Amino acid sequence: MFTKEDNLIFDRIIEKRSTCRSFTEQIPSKEDIEKIIEAGKLAPYASIDAKAVDVFRHFYVIFHDDPRMDVIDRLIKEQSAIDLNRRLEEKKTDPFLQENGERVEKLWENVAKNGESTFPNPPCMIVVAEWRGARRAERQSLAHLMENMWLKATALNLDFQIISVTENMVDNQEFCDMFHLPVGMYGFHACVVGYAKNSTGRNARCTSEVHFEA
Ligand SMILES: Cc1cc2nc3c(=O)[nH]c(=O)nc-3n(C[C@H](O)[C@H](O)[C@H](O)COP(=O)(O)O)c2cc1C
Repeated sequence: MFTKEDNLIFDRIIEKRSTCRSFTEQIPSKEDIEKIIEAGKLAPYASIDAKAVDVFRHFYVIFHDDPRMDVIDRLIKEQSAIDLNRRLEEKKTDPFLQENGERVEKLWENVAKNGESTFPNPPCMIVVAEWRGARRAERQSLAHLMENMWLKATALNLDFQIISVTENMVDNQEFCDMFHLPVGMYGFHACVVGYAKNSTGRNARCTSEVHFEA
């Protein structure tokens, strides 16, 4: 059973979790990265498809001096441009996007031009690939996985940024080739792990309401 103290610590970790958008050059240790990955392995998954492949989840650790980092930087920009163009196409016939799409478009346009805020050359990136299976639940599953890794990184006093554009690289030949995975069969998610340049603390919480009764 967990104690009150265990719960206080758990609450502190959840409270402390935040997004980092600027890292120092300090490289996290391999031991810490292994602990973060262990937390990812423990995340739930859509088990209906688990027997179809020998390895359901793959973790790829890429440190800052790895030449693949430059390729990923370029692919992130290219993917963001593809996502933006798709969105602009979709927007033509979608009144909701016409009214509300501008902020996202600006963000994707900026990433297409300048890359993610922590690129080029972030300290360490973890790319995770998960078998899509027939259930096609890999995105949800990878989101659970990322949250587990994020909380573990927080508990280890490491900072974290999810790189969600990688979710759209399922059909990206060059990205899949980099990890020797077949195109279209694995979903992706990725994060950067390191030490924050300026520890600004938590961003504001999103607005929310709790409804116990009708
Ligand atoms: C689905 C999803 C996708 C996100 N994608 C990115 C991303 O690609 N890059 C990034 O820097 N932050 C990304 N974020 C982080 C959010 O912007 C961040 O969680 C939010 O602003 C709240 O700040 P906090 O994480 O510090 O609490 C993403 C968050 C979610 C839930």
